[in-house]
Amino acid sequence: MPQAPKGTRDIIGEDYQAFRYIIDTAERVIGSTGAVHIETPVFEETAVFEKAVGASTDIVRKEMYTFTDRGGRSLTLRPEGTAGIVRAYLENGMKVWPQPVRLYTYGPMFRAENVQRGRYRQFHQIDYEAIGSADPLVDAEAIALLVKILQELGLTGLEVKLGSVGDPEDRKQYNAYLRGLLSPSLERLSKDSKDRLELNPMRILDSKDQKDQVLLKELRARPMLDFLGPEAKRHFEDLQKYLKALGVNFSIDPSIVRGLDYYVRTAFEVHHARIGAQSALCGGGRYDGLAEMLGGAHVPGVGWAFGIERIAIAMEEEGFSPSAEAGPDLLIVPLDEKAREEALALAQQLRPKFRVEFLYTTKSPRKGLEDALKRQATFVAFLGEAERSKGVVTLKHLARGSQEEVYAQELAAKLGARI
Ligand code: HAM
Repeated sequence: MPQAPKGTRDIIGEDYQAFRYIIDTAERVIGSTGAVHIETPVFEETAVFEKAVGASTDIVRKEMYTFTDRGGRSLTLRPEGTAGIVRAYLENGMKVWPQPVRLYTYGPMFRAENVQRGRYRQFHQIDYEAIGSADPLVDAEAIALLVKILQELGLTGLEVKLGSVGDPEDRKQYNAYLRGLLSPSLERLSKDSKDRLELNPMRILDSKDQKDQVLLKELRARPMLDFLGPEAKRHFEDLQKYLKALGVNFSIDPSIVRGLDYYVRTAFEVHHARIGAQSALCGGGRYDGLAEMLGGAHVPGVGWAFGIERIAIAMEEEGFSPSAEAGPDLLIVPLDEKAREEALALAQQLRPKFRVEFLYTTKSPRKGLEDALKRQATFVAFLGEAERSKGVVTLKHLARGSQEEVYAQELAAKLGARI
């Protein structure tokens, strides 16, 4: 029998309740800022991610689900949302909208990662992007919004780690520094990091290989923050000033490099005490050069994304349990064969004002009642020959135990008054 592919999950029951709660809460809070919802395709031309996320990243090197379609085009299931959203900004001429254009989305993302708790191959992100402004106030708003959502979800134990990866020229200098520092010890680097030294030495800081981390420590590699140019530095300082004024707690983490190449200046992550140090709950930053990498004009932007599954784990760790799904307002029980289709007709009449279910097979009143209790229905209605002859249903309120005969046309009013 087929099974769900490795690293994917069916989301159902309590898991779905938690999932829904997270999305609804995030949408409510994000919506209150005036940001608008966007849906982009779950696959894009492969070049979109190669150019934006970067050839030196683990995502592009090892984790993309890339395929050739029937027309011979190379397409990739999106590993993240930002590249596609910036592509959509350019393609839909959002440059003429009032700037910055603030957009959000949620949906599945795909990365062929080593599967572990909180790390899947199909996972779901909520993603917020503010495109069209380089103002650090926009970064501050984005970070404060993220924190607000996490607070609304009831999460404590959060740590906002803030860094800056500077401007491209700053990074050039930093990469030159790292090359000089690491080249003499080339042989001690992992195979991947040997490639990284060539392509983008900064990526070595992000290496999950212990060998690389030991070497960096031994050589006392300086952090990127030491290499910020005056403009990136001022941007970083202004952002901190705004965050402090907003009362957003954060710590400066010079080691933040992030796993995607498009970042400039602001880079941040939110960590949770009980999720494990390796896994961030959320990540984001500024990507002023991304639109140009995709062949567009220079358009600055900043944003973040969080994994819904990781948030759900953090909430569970903090004792959150989703409220059980409520039962139907009414369960209709057909007592004879003819009542089966009458039950469907009655259900159709009452929907969607009321949540109405009916049994597809005939049942005795006792069995019907048991079923209604199991489903946690508010009311149960019995429909059989005795009811048909009088044009009524026998209606029972389960919690109160009261029972009465009600004319079918009065049923809606009865339900409305009692629910
Ligand atoms: P990211 O740090 O790669 O950033 O991913 C953001 C979040 O997605 C992570 O913090 C984590 O919660 C979740 N996530 C990532 N990979 C997995 C996985 N394999 N399984 C479960 N959850 C995962 C981005 O994707 C950027 N696009 C964020 C951004 C938006 N930057 C600017 N705007």
